[in-house]
Amino acid sequence: MAKKVVLAYSGGLDTSVAVRWIREEWGAEVVALAVDVGQAPSADGGDWERIRQRALAAGAVEAEVVDARDELAAGYFGPALRANALYEGKYPLVSALSRPVIARHLVLAARRHGADAVAHGCTGKGNDQVRFEVGVRTLAPDLDVLAPVRVWGLTRDDCIDYAARHDIPITVTREKPYSIDENLVGRAIECGAMEDPWVAPPDDVYELTRDVADAPTERREIVVAFERGTPVALDGRAMGPAELVAAVGAAAGEYGFGRIDMVENRRVGIKSRETYECPGSLALIVAHQDLEAITVERDVMREKARLEGRYAELVYDGLWFSPLREALDAFVESTQRHVTGEVRLRLEPGRCAPVGRRAEAPLYDYALATYEAEDAFRHQDAEGFVRLWGLSTETWSRRQQPFGAQAGEGS
Ligand code: ARG
Repeated sequence: MAKKVVLAYSGGLDTSVAVRWIREEWGAEVVALAVDVGQAPSADGGDWERIRQRALAAGAVEAEVVDARDELAAGYFGPALRANALYEGKYPLVSALSRPVIARHLVLAARRHGADAVAHGCTGKGNDQVRFEVGVRTLAPDLDVLAPVRVWGLTRDDCIDYAARHDIPITVTREKPYSIDENLVGRAIECGAMEDPWVAPPDDVYELTRDVADAPTERREIVVAFERGTPVALDGRAMGPAELVAAVGAAAGEYGFGRIDMVENRRVGIKSRETYECPGSLALIVAHQDLEAITVERDVMREKARLEGRYAELVYDGLWFSPLREALDAFVESTQRHVTGEVRLRLEPGRCAPVGRRAEAPLYDYALATYEAEDAFRHQDAEGFVRLWGLSTETWSRRQQPFGAQAGEGS
């Protein structure tokens, strides 16, 4: 059994109980590691220091907080954005992107503290256990990965009793029975009434997006600038990656843009009803796709589109640290060489859509596209091109008469 364990600590009920439980049941020392990925540190408004103190009160030998916001934004959300990664066409991978960041910090902390294992507070039913464990085992095959929640057999009420019995200072709100995971990419909300997929998500699950009915009626436009596929400025103001997602998210969320309600396929074979709000990340993906349309060559665009879904699946399935993700990133990076320019996004209730784009080296050529006098397209080339384009089917029709003896006859 492990002697010293670094636990991914959220400050919530499960991981607070886990600190003490690992100590009592497995006799190991616990180092609590809280990773700031842009979530509110505590549902009750507490700060990171309060979270640290809670871990110590629960029995951790040490408790530390690392700020991984820019790392998540630049190193994980950035590549996913350049890949327009949306799982099952909809979900911008919120939790799936933060888990490898946390896994990496668990390994770093384990090395720092001379620990022989790391632990997480995931249940056995979800994707996050897969992402933590596969991530840690890939980065550090020598470390054990422990999952107390998967084996302890405690209900939520048991956990509340356990915390009370051991003087673990945690206030649990019983009225909101949601399981929430949030970071700067967005928020995921599960459980409660939403476990019935026919029931609309209650209004109180949302925090980053307004109800469309309460959105401003006045339209607004924002301009996002990109350099090689990376967003770098909002309305001409240069910003770091984390700040930028937040600022774009604040603008789009005001208009009620960014809510997702879907049934998705978890890696472990369960279909689950998921509610998300991702105003910033979704708005940036919309803008990025639009800038690609004017800067990326047609065949590259089509091939990239084929790979984007695969990329999202891979990240969702916990394979961030994998040779395929690295190879796909290399491909994506090479497609982004000229994705430099600006996109005008129009915000209106429930919508965020591009209404203008310009680029440093656009492939849009006015002289080729225009119907005005400046038209430089060689119209005479079209006749022979079109005839040869259709020659194969024309010959097929002539020789094999698929449409019958007379044109248009038959099916
Ligand atoms: N279904 C999403 C995913 O697998 C969100 C998971 C959220 N986690 C949570 N503990 N609520 O990425």
